[in-house]
Formats: sequence, structure tokens, C-alpha cells
Amino acid sequence: MSWIDKLLPWRNRPATAAAQRPNEDKYVYRPAATPVSGGGVTECAAFPRFQTTAGDQLDPRTADRFALVRSKLRGAYTPAQPVTDRKMFAGRTKVMTALIRSIEDQRLHTVIYGERGIGKTSLLQVLAKAAQEARYLVVYVTCGARSEFDETFRAIAAHIPLMYHSAYGPTTIEGERGDTLASLLGSEPMTVSSASDALAKIEGTRVLVILDEYDRAGSEDFRRSIAELLKSLSDQAVRVQVLIAGVAANLTELVANVPSIQRNVFAMRIPKMTAAEIRSIVKNGENVSDLHFDEAAIHAIIARCMGFPYLASLISHRAALVAIDEGRLTVQSRDVAVATEEAVNEFRGRISRRSQLQIGTLVDEGKLGVLGALAGAAQSTGGWFTVEDITAVHGDPAAIAEAREAAERLAADQVLLEVGDDGFGRGFRFMEPTVPVYLWLLAARGQFFDHEQPDLQGEPA
Ligand SMILES: Nc1ncnc2c1ncn2[C@@H]1O[C@H](COP(=O)(O)OP(=O)(O)O)[C@@H](O)[C@H]1O
Ligand SMILES: [Mg+2]
Repeated sequence: MSWIDKLLPWRNRPATAAAQRPNEDKYVYRPAATPVSGGGVTECAAFPRFQTTAGDQLDPRTADRFALVRSKLRGAYTPAQPVTDRKMFAGRTKVMTALIRSIEDQRLHTVIYGERGIGKTSLLQVLAKAAQEARYLVVYVTCGARSEFDETFRAIAAHIPLMYHSAYGPTTIEGERGDTLASLLGSEPMTVSSASDALAKIEGTRVLVILDEYDRAGSEDFRRSIAELLKSLSDQAVRVQVLIAGVAANLTELVANVPSIQRNVFAMRIPKMTAAEIRSIVKNGENVSDLHFDEAAIHAIIARCMGFPYLASLISHRAALVAIDEGRLTVQSRDVAVATEEAVNEFRGRISRRSQLQIGTLVDEGKLGVLGALAGAAQSTGGWFTVEDITAVHGDPAAIAEAREAAERLAADQVLLEVGDDGFGRGFRFMEPTVPVYLWLLAARGQFFDHEQPDLQGEPA
């Protein structure tokens, strides 16, 4: 299996993650043709059943009054998948405008960065669609730990038809046959210069190469080559622009080693969502389901999700299920409380017993705020973080100092944290990657009653 998880031009990307899998048939569960006899499955009215078929049809034998509501809810909040449908995409107007201007007016390469769950992939998906509507050829690559330049470049070239090559064009045999740039690359390993020469031949379109999860690429050589490629493409005014997304506290971690590149790149940190944007996530979900969130419930979600669309989506989805289970179509703030509690319990189950006990002790000592700040630092960098990355939510200097001191102490005692070097200097890391998310949820639960953020109606102007 290639290290590239997905490499598809945008137009070939179906809407759902399930539909994206190649050879979907391989994954379909097929019951044996003849049922196993003796002690096998017997019809039992009380036994739980799936209520919708895999083709999304409700099963009339089992569907209760709320089955349809549940089935609509599945598309309303999708915390485990990026949003691909513009109708479900909330807010982000300013960010989208800035990105489009940078690509279209300034012809810059673009880097977006921010915490996991802040909404980078969703943004890329919606932006890719908009670019395609403007007739850009969009190539979407999800980077992996073993991404290397040669393989990545060939995969990109395989999605650029020769009809856009200056020496071929749409009316040549190759152009009509649908041959791609990859067919011209030869067997020598690609270098930055051979790659940019190949791309320099493109005409009649603009290509937008999207590299998502760039931070996952482990190879220093890969990152350096991509950075040099950006520089070379800019210098030659090639009709190819690159849009990179990753979890990184700052740009230097993303495009290392090519200082002169900064001029050719527009970098943007994806901000946390405003209360109005979170509200519109909830509202978009309401619009495609039969559910209604009352005002108090919306306030509770806004207060708990801390500006993270991932948490807003997760908590909204869970809260809606709690309401449905109680036979209601109106979601209330107590459902949000129960939903957060459930999420906390679920994430607790994903971390080791040792970490659970250590966290329990620290929370009992009143250290939840400190742990929240450390979790925030880990989320903002995606792993290793330095003392500089630790900033308390409200920027209180005493709280920051306390958190920094705690990081040193925990790492020295090998409690939750370890200390090491990520290549950019000394830093800390949570030994278990799920721990920061869990701490985050604990902090969200803690926030509920103390900080009800002022809610703004509607989108900001
Ligand atoms: N603009 C948005 N509107 C609605 N939901 C969003 C939006 N952005 C993100 N989400 C939700 O948050 C979750 C995490 O978003 P994702 O784009 O995967 O973040 P990232 O790539 O930064 O980790 C998604 O599954 C989606 O449910
Ligand atoms: Mg992502």
C-alpha cells in the first residue's frame, strides 16, 4: 500500500469517506449464503437491529418514529469526517476570502496551519471545490509519515493531463488518449529542478496542488524538496500553486531550511471559531435534521467547544442522540451536559490506566487548569511543544509560569510528559497522544458553568 492515503483530483472525490475507499466491495460484509444451523441467529423481536440499510434506506420492519431523525442526524454533525458539503460548512468567510485572494490575485503559494480539529481539511475541501468551479485543476494529496519527493511528484503528475502540456495540447493523440505528465518523467529519480521543468510546460489551465497533513511527512528531505520546489515555481512564474496544510505552531516547522521562500508564501494560522460560527454549525445541522437546539443548549455548546469545530460537532451530535433517546426533538442544555460527560468517559477509556490515575491525582490537586494549558500547547503543535508554546487561555502570566514549571516537573518525574528533541530544540510531548484530547474535554466540562461566553446572533458582518 502506498504511503499516499489518497491522491485524487477533486472531481473524483465522492462526498463521504466510505465512498472514497477504492474497491469498496472488499469491505462489504457478506453473510454466508446458507445460515449456520443449530444455535444460530434466531429471529427475536427484542434483539437490537440496524435501522437503516447500507444503502441508507430505512428498514420498515424495525424503524421507529425516531429512526428517520437518527438517520438524518448522521449527516448533520460529522465529527469524525471533514465537512465537504458547502451547505454544511459554517463560517470561515474571512479565512476563505484571504486564501482565495492569495491564490488568485497574488499567485502565492499558501500555508495554513493550526491545531488538529480546527477545521483545516474541511476548509481545503471547500476551497478545492471553489477552485475547481473556477476551472483550476486541483490535485489533492494527503501526506503520510513516509512521503518522499519522487513518489509524491509522480503521483501529482499522474493527475495532470497532457492536454495542458505546451508540446501536446488537446488535439494530439496523447492529449485525446488522456495521457498524463507522469508518462513523460522517465525512470531517473525526480529532482526539484526536473520537477519544476516538467511543471513549467503547463498551459491552458492553472494547477492547485493541495498537500494536506504536511506535518505527518517524516522526511526532512521531502520537506526541503517541497520548499525548494515552491521557490523554483515562483521564480519561473509556473502556472502551478501549492497549498499546504498542517499542524504546526509556526511556519518554520512546515517549510524548513529555505529562508528566501517566505516572500513567495502566504501563511495563515486558522483561528478558533467565533461563537457565531459555532452557532452556525449547530444551525446547519438543525436545517438538515428534524431537531431543534434551544438557546440554552446552543450557549452550552459554545461554552464547551472552546472555538473548536471538532468539539462543537462532537458535542452537538452526542447531545442530539441523548435527546432522541429520551423521545424529544428539542435538544436542551442538560443533553449537552450529558453528552460532554459521555465524551469524557469515552476518551478516558482510550488512555492507559496509569495516565488515568495520574490525571485523577493532578485534578484532585487543583491542577486541571495547568493540564489544560499543556494540552493546548500539545494540540497547537501536534506533538512536541516548547515552553514558549505554553500560553494559558486567558494569557495570565502567573498561570503560564505555573504551567511551564509543571511541564518541567512532570517530564522529570515521567508523569504524562516526556522531554526530548524534535530537531528544533528541546521540547515536551505527551507520552500518549490521546491524553491531550481527553484533558481538553475535561477542561471543556469544567468550563461549562463558569464561563458562559457572550453569544452573538448570526454571522459576523
Ligand atoms: N467550517 C466548518 N463547518 C462545520 N463543521 C466544521 C467546519 N470545520 C470543521 N468542522 C468539523 O470539525 C471537524 C474537524 O475538522 P477538520 O477539517 O478535520 O480539522 P483538521 O483538518 O484541522 O484536523 C470536522 O469533522 C467537522 O465535523
Ligand atoms: Mg485534517
